[in-house]
Amino acid sequence: MKKSAILFLIFSLFTVSAFTRTGVSHLLTENRINPIGLDTPTPRFTWQLVAGERGVYQTVYEIRLAESTAALSKSKNRVWDSGKITSGKSVQVPYKGPKLQSDTRYYWQVRVWDQDSKASAWSEPAWFQTAFFNLSDWKAKWITPASRKDTSASPLLRKIFNLHEDIKSANLYITSHGMYEAFINGSRVGDALLTPGWTSYNERLQYQVYDITDMLQNGSNAVGVVLGNGWYKSDMGYNLVRYKDDISLLCQLEIHYKDGTSELVTSGPGWKSVTGPIRYSDVYDGETYDARYEIPGWSTPGFDDSDWGMVKVKDYKMDNLIATYNEPVRKHEVFTANKLITTPKGDKVIDFGQNLVGWVQVKVKGKAGDTVRIYHAEVLDKKGNFYTDNLRTARQLDTYVLEDNGTETFEPHFSWQGFRYIKIEGYPGEIDPVNFTATAIYSDMTPTGTFECSDSLLNQLQHNIQWGQRGNFLDVPTDCPQRDERLGWTGDAQAFARTATFNFRVDNFFAKWLKDLAVDQKNGDVPAIVPNIGKGVSGSPGWGDVATIAPWTMYLAYGDRRILEDQYESMKGWVDHITGLSKNNLWIPSWSFGDWLFYSLNNDRSGESAITDKSLIAQCFYACSTQNLINAAKVLGKTTDVENYTELLKDIKNAFFREYVTRSGRLVSGTQTAYVLALQFDMLPEDLRDQAADRLVDNIRHYNNHLTTGFLGTPYLCHVLTRFGHDDVAYELLLQKTYPSWLYPVTMGATTIWERWDGIKPDSTFQTPSMNSFNHYAYGAIGDWMYRTITGLDTYSDQPGYKKIRIKPHIGGGLTHASATLKTYYGNVKSGWEIKDGRLLMNIEIPGNTSAVIYIPASGVTESTRLLKESEDVKYLGEEDGYVKVEVGSGVYAFVGEEVGGMR
Ligand code: BGC
Repeated sequence: MKKSAILFLIFSLFTVSAFTRTGVSHLLTENRINPIGLDTPTPRFTWQLVAGERGVYQTVYEIRLAESTAALSKSKNRVWDSGKITSGKSVQVPYKGPKLQSDTRYYWQVRVWDQDSKASAWSEPAWFQTAFFNLSDWKAKWITPASRKDTSASPLLRKIFNLHEDIKSANLYITSHGMYEAFINGSRVGDALLTPGWTSYNERLQYQVYDITDMLQNGSNAVGVVLGNGWYKSDMGYNLVRYKDDISLLCQLEIHYKDGTSELVTSGPGWKSVTGPIRYSDVYDGETYDARYEIPGWSTPGFDDSDWGMVKVKDYKMDNLIATYNEPVRKHEVFTANKLITTPKGDKVIDFGQNLVGWVQVKVKGKAGDTVRIYHAEVLDKKGNFYTDNLRTARQLDTYVLEDNGTETFEPHFSWQGFRYIKIEGYPGEIDPVNFTATAIYSDMTPTGTFECSDSLLNQLQHNIQWGQRGNFLDVPTDCPQRDERLGWTGDAQAFARTATFNFRVDNFFAKWLKDLAVDQKNGDVPAIVPNIGKGVSGSPGWGDVATIAPWTMYLAYGDRRILEDQYESMKGWVDHITGLSKNNLWIPSWSFGDWLFYSLNNDRSGESAITDKSLIAQCFYACSTQNLINAAKVLGKTTDVENYTELLKDIKNAFFREYVTRSGRLVSGTQTAYVLALQFDMLPEDLRDQAADRLVDNIRHYNNHLTTGFLGTPYLCHVLTRFGHDDVAYELLLQKTYPSWLYPVTMGATTIWERWDGIKPDSTFQTPSMNSFNHYAYGAIGDWMYRTITGLDTYSDQPGYKKIRIKPHIGGGLTHASATLKTYYGNVKSGWEIKDGRLLMNIEIPGNTSAVIYIPASGVTESTRLLKESEDVKYLGEEDGYVKVEVGSGVYAFVGEEVGGMR
């Protein structure tokens, strides 16, 4: 070998080993990449170890923080250096330095020491920017147009201002009563939609912060804002009420110059206003845009606003202002028109192929005054006609009036629709599908999970679950996105919460919504919908319990202790509220939604409808919430509460036993939901559990292997069957194709999860239109079982957030392979298995700074061709219930073994 080749080899070896050294990447602050506008005084930092080898974990970390990247490396200029901290914690590590200043950008970086005490290099810096910590930081005043002829139309507001050279940074702080879109010098600020988002406005109104440095110029500048009605002023809810009518704006531009001076531009006197082209907007009914009212250049400095009206300064409350914590709503997938249909009724309809939530962009050329109407629907009826009866009073109609200006492009701003089909009226000329595209909009959550297996119907089910989540995670978790509800129904949210954590990163989304829940709680009672607009009814069993179920679920899935701290009083309030309503430890609610939308017959002479006693359900959820509260109290070290509520839980279960269980262990309701809830929440003494699970199986057999559960029993049905050794029955239910089942809608062409098991009946007629949404995520709660049982991907409650991973696949249902991936805060986890020629292959990926216990349902197992007992990286833990059990650290592993007979 030549000398140069040898040198190259040595160099390469050196480089490779340098690369395999542990590194740090994926820095997050408050679970987001470089967030702007945090009002959390102690933001939490997260990072990932880039593990080039197996078994990598962190033993020590050091964080440093400064106001510029240059200052990070100079100790005297730094704001904070954590020093070397001996700890394996790399997720949500709280800031512990001096008090942070408002409206300031901070940079931070981290380095770690691994299991061999090898230090990583300092990470690339990440940053976050604070919002306003003090009410006195706000100098702006609320403003509203001084006079408005048409109060349903959207006002434009504007202001010009002068700046001098050398702007270092500039931020826009903005919120509104109603919704807003902001512009600087003619360009849209940011890409967030439906801002300021939906919260319990009276107590919590979010503002957003945008970096507008690059949008400003030396000399004259203009800021313009268009306001829409949004959740604030639309008629919302089942009793169609509004928060208030006053559409108004609050905004403040903070401009910092390089010489250290600052300038403020605030909403207040001197702004001008006029009515713009959005003539009408409403959450349920849609938007009307009349291009003849467009005002070119209205948000540029050179525009002449002398004929615009004045604004009024209003004394609206400011102490409800909060920064925005969750990801904003943004545009996502774009769908081209699948086909143009002429229906039997003669309507021109476009099919986008996917039931989605968002809007359609229309390109059109015509005369001034031509009016194009776009109606939205989820389904066509049996005959192929456009079907909107299930929208109830929601019009879902966008109207565009043309200006005669060549090709014009329209889309709504302050309204969105749930649809797969649109009906087009008034389109001038030929309708060409290329002129119509549908865009999905939803909260910009990071996609985290994938699930895929050998059954194409199950893959479509997973697709439908994810689309149900996209459509209904629109700033708040909604029941449905199309009819006149679109509300934060608490029961639906609790049913779906765990599944939601697999598909997308939803901890900030829930953290924000749960704070609204807490402020809407009155004497502990949780309203049925949050934000509680109008006269919302109070917490029904399984609805109000979201107060304990969601925080505990977020803790499990993300290891988020702060959510437990923040929600603890709310959790406790709910349990105490139930206790206050109970007699002899029995919660017998005066009313309840029960096991909503369970299997029932129209003309039930035989008594086959699966009606579960509502009080029995209530007692199970009383126990569930008390258990969650005890769990949270343990994590937070509240020992007295642990003792007191543990006593209470015993009493709740004893009361259940006295009231609802016969001497032979039968429940007073013989339904699947009754057995599922009693077993899921450990309501029965241990010696009565197996027979109860057998009764559950008998019941399923009685319905010819069909489920009969509603919103409350469904999420736990397969979990309970698995826990009591009935995987085969769980798989039969999952793979059942006839009504009622998860796959029945799939066989009927569903692209989302339906509200009802038979939204479209086998004869292609519809369920009753007053309650028949085709995009309701609750029954999608089976997704959790698919991830946690089919591919076996789970976490441990004592090391939550996948710090310690459990992989225990339950192979069955004739599946030949299944695979799931999950982006955790530590990195990617993968659990995949395949059966080939009688051999089981398991492909596993475990991220740095975590460990995993893996259960392999096979014999004679090897890992990367080595016998387990010979492998240094795999710790053999023995055999258990037909599984070989091992423990591993980070890395990629391939296990192979003989398929254990009978597992399918
Ligand atoms: C909603 C549900 C909700 C229910 C309460 C319905 O109108 O769409 O999903 O949970 O009311 O029973």
